[in-house]
Amino acid sequence: MVNGATILLTGACGYIGSHTWVALAQAGFAVVGVDNFTNSSPGVLPRLQRLTGQTPVFEQVDVCSAADLGAVFSRHRIDAVVHFAALKAVGESTSQPLAYYANNLGGLLTTCRVMQAHGCRRLVFSSSATVYGAPEHLPIPEDAPLSATNPYGQTKLMGETLLRDLAQADPDWRTATLRYFNPVGAHESGLIGEEPRGTPNNLMPYVAQVAAGQRPFLQVFGDDYPTPDGTGVRDYLHVMDLAEGHVAALRWLLAGGDALTLNLGTGQGHSVLEVVSAYSQASGREIPLRMAPRRPGDVAACWADASQAFKALGWQAGRGLAQMCDDSWRWSRSSAGFNEGIQRAA
Ligand code: NAD
Ligand code: WQD
Repeated sequence: MVNGATILLTGACGYIGSHTWVALAQAGFAVVGVDNFTNSSPGVLPRLQRLTGQTPVFEQVDVCSAADLGAVFSRHRIDAVVHFAALKAVGESTSQPLAYYANNLGGLLTTCRVMQAHGCRRLVFSSSATVYGAPEHLPIPEDAPLSATNPYGQTKLMGETLLRDLAQADPDWRTATLRYFNPVGAHESGLIGEEPRGTPNNLMPYVAQVAAGQRPFLQVFGDDYPTPDGTGVRDYLHVMDLAEGHVAALRWLLAGGDALTLNLGTGQGHSVLEVVSAYSQASGREIPLRMAPRRPGDVAACWADASQAFKALGWQAGRGLAQMCDDSWRWSRSSAGFNEGIQRAA
């Protein structure tokens, strides 16, 4: 069964979860969302209602609680789960490794156990390009060597291992491990987007705050990399393309497809200076820059070999850098995005 299936989203109110909720609703799936609001707020729910035209079915649940998550499965017949719930700040994971292992691995383990107990064995897992460590060759195919350089990355690698072992032990389990490259942008309505708490760690939300005048300048972490303009190169991917990748993976699993591990990226790299220039164009604002030393742990360049996702699912990213910047800027100027930004930056 594909159309009309009910999908549980964990971490449903977060950045990628909320956009995937909209994409799933548009594709005709019923969605049940859970979140504990460690890195999101209930304010997104009325906006999801406006975007989907439906009252969101949502429960405030910590996925580390088997009892609370089990109660959700008892109340709803869940056909498949997309497991977004995790902590994701790389720097924080180095200073608080126990919190990351407990939440990210504990949450995944509990989710799988509860699913098994309720006879649900279709799972999409949010992994990350971080599992490729410092890539030896570009673009990066799925069979490139894996390594982790920080506890956050370890939780993704260990999560992937857990799911592989589970599928080997019980072929009824069908899992899709999706390795996201650099998700950016926002829904084109400007109603939902990324809501970073405090100082943004990632490039585009930081650039957005500089463009909006909330921060005086962007520090460019390294201009001496072996890249065309010396700044770091990444595979930036529109969050709605990413959301649609989840829809494609769910259709595959629900139609009886085998386990998958896929890169979700555009297959194209952009430098920090290219992103700044595109954002300046989108916003009509100058983005003051200061060159700064390389950020520890950063690699020079990273982009996906995105061909497998197209072969397996017929999915490919369609939105380019200009649209990523336009949509990010629309969100950051919308009353929702602007107020969230002010609140979070305070
Ligand atoms: P996010 O922080 O915006 O969303 C995660 C959501 O999970 C938040 O709403 C948070 O409150 C919730 N959550 C965390 N722990 C929970 C728990 N124990 N129980 C219930 N809810 C919990 O992050 P995001 O950018 O939407 O990322 C979603 C997933 O994608 C994460 O697993 C992340 O590691 C992964 N990922 C993100 C990126 C990225 O750059 N954004 C890249 C690769 C992979
Ligand atoms: C992009 C480029 C920076 C900020 C991270 C995680 C990864 C994944 C996605 C979850 C780099 C440069 C940045 C700034 C800058 N998340 N930069 N000034 O590091 O590729 O990936 O998010 O899985 O695990 O590590 O993304 O957006 O932080 O950086 O110059 O203020 O922008 O050096 O070249 P990254 P990013």
